[in-house]
Amino acid sequence: QRPAEMRRNIDVSGLVDHEGGLLDRAVFTDHSIYAQEMRRVFAPSWLFLAHTDQFKKPGDFFATFMGEDPVLVTLTREKKLKAFLNSCRHRGARVCRADFGQTRNFTCSYHGWSYDLDGKLVSVPNEAGYPESFERDDWGLVEVPHIETYNGLIFGTWNPSPIPLRESLGDMAWYMDAMLDHDDDGTEVVGGIHKWVLDGNWKLAAEQFATDWYHVNMSHASALMVMSPTGKGPRDEIVHRTGRQYVDPNGHGAGFPVHTKNRFDAKTVHDHTDYTALRERLGDARVEGPLTNGHATVFPNFSYLPVNGSIRIWHPKGPDKMEVWAWTIVDKCWPDEVKQAQRLYNLRTFGPSGIFEQDDGENWSECQAIAAGFITNGVALNYQMGLGSEREDGRYPGTTSELYSDAAGRSFYARWRTLMNTPAWHEGDAR
Ligand code: FES
Ligand code: FE
Repeated sequence: QRPAEMRRNIDVSGLVDHEGGLLDRAVFTDHSIYAQEMRRVFAPSWLFLAHTDQFKKPGDFFATFMGEDPVLVTLTREKKLKAFLNSCRHRGARVCRADFGQTRNFTCSYHGWSYDLDGKLVSVPNEAGYPESFERDDWGLVEVPHIETYNGLIFGTWNPSPIPLRESLGDMAWYMDAMLDHDDDGTEVVGGIHKWVLDGNWKLAAEQFATDWYHVNMSHASALMVMSPTGKGPRDEIVHRTGRQYVDPNGHGAGFPVHTKNRFDAKTVHDHTDYTALRERLGDARVEGPLTNGHATVFPNFSYLPVNGSIRIWHPKGPDKMEVWAWTIVDKCWPDEVKQAQRLYNLRTFGPSGIFEQDDGENWSECQAIAAGFITNGVALNYQMGLGSEREDGRYPGTTSELYSDAAGRSFYARWRTLMNTPAWHEGDAR
């Protein structure tokens, strides 16, 4: 039984009016709402952990977070992916303080308990000092019960009986494949993982990637100017495009311009790409739409930019802080110079100091900073663009809306509200 404060139930119905397109700013600032998010949104959901390319040999490991819980993803001797709470069962220190690496065992640096790649406790200094009832088998690392992969992306969930990952992705998988499934070889990670901290609630970033194309021409005007071949103005084919927005019932979302000339932005990648083969595999609708400079979010906190090959997670660090972790992925079959060109292009645009990334982070921090004001906090936000524009048009799977629309944002918060108002498995008779 957890302390009462950790179990307090807040009915968030009054904070999210997804039908009317209104949102209360308390969802970004309130500490009790944040605590409830950890147990009702993060604990039961599929959360992105890592890319399969990070695990080649038994013993490869990667330390990350699920919500605020530190986890350790390992490849066992049997080459099985597993994940564990990165917290020693003795006094709770992290058993692994490295970000990633190769090992046989994880030895806690506090008193020296040692765990193998399957999370089993294998060695305890001065074990003779414990009572006879002490069994090492009872003190292994706490295992994440379900790990599943989708086209190179590894997800895990604490939910003991989740719906399968593929099912939870639904039609979103079709949109994700525009980035992940260019050929049979799949993708790999190139370069390191960038990590940076932003002052802002994680949802500000997640919802923006799901739904917000509206900000592009304004917020990124100067960046678009720099990208302009003439230096005089944004490239015609970037601004004022028509496009679509995918609106997923599970809270995922993707926005993408639609243009018959759509292509990879990085010149070297563009020159290398066989668009005929890509159209054969993915279909015209996908190459002219989701495989563009759009962006997307897999609920709750995994986002990506298809033409940049940027995949990222918005780790929550309290209601007003997030840590962004971003990878660049490329097609495995690309020659090295093409992979490097994509890495550099992503770095320049959406790396921690990328010209677009700067604009977005600044906006989120700005919205967060003022939301804490007492009067400000009570003034609702507007998510009404495109209300009623959602439809199935047959060209794209599922429901889509206009490019400039808040439709996927409304469904993101509708899903959030549903989870927030549903006791999770671990709450038992807590309410
Ligand atoms: Fe890990 Fe004591 S906390 S061995
Ligand atoms: Fe942006």
